[in-house]
Amino acid sequence: MSIDINNTLRAAPVVPLVQSDDPAVAVQISRALAAGGLTVAEVVLRTDRALECLQAVADEVPEMIAGAGTVLTADQANAAVDAGAKFIVSPGLDDGVVAAARERGVPVYPGIVTPGELQHAHNLGLDVVKFFPASLAGGVPMLRALSSVFRHMRFMPTGGVSPGNLAEYLAVPAVLACGGSWLTPAAAIAAGDYEQITKLAKDALAIAAGGSEASG
Ligand code: 3PG
Repeated sequence: MSIDINNTLRAAPVVPLVQSDDPAVAVQISRALAAGGLTVAEVVLRTDRALECLQAVADEVPEMIAGAGTVLTADQANAAVDAGAKFIVSPGLDDGVVAAARERGVPVYPGIVTPGELQHAHNLGLDVVKFFPASLAGGVPMLRALSSVFRHMRFMPTGGVSPGNLAEYLAVPAVLACGGSWLTPAAAIAAGDYEQITKLAKDALAIAAGGSEASG
């Protein structure tokens, strides 16, 4: 199975986080996001039932390309792919996670902050990495500095991205997409206000459509 996630992200370069301990809620969040035009999401492994949530989204929301986030170990990467993950995201760079994802034939986006980590990712043959935690790690100026040296690397900044700075991040040509939790506020989920999530997704898409200087 190979899905061109990068192509999908060119049209909608925002990757929301889906966090829940209830598979039915994860499905509703994912449907709300997809209704707003965001069809790539990261189901984060931060709850006891996160793998069940991922499986439910993979099974019940075919319009969503669901990956697994917060993948810390190779075993988790394998379990996530077993549950239907179409890609793997890690907060840091771990060779075992990268190898497991590759063996399973899914894209992997490990997190980096430093030039050393980025060089290691480059030399593992990766060309897209997560930049996390983006705002605390230097934000847009750091991304521009890193991408001036690592000319072929593409980045997914996550951590502190918001509607207020999304356009600025997406204006960096090396940025493939931004990730974030602002699209899925815990309060909206607790209130069952999925329309708010759809609206946040649409708003993010509008910002992305107006704010990028990259052409492809
Ligand atoms: C992540 O896992 O990528 C971050 O927790 C997201 O950071 P944010 O909550 O600042 O968007």
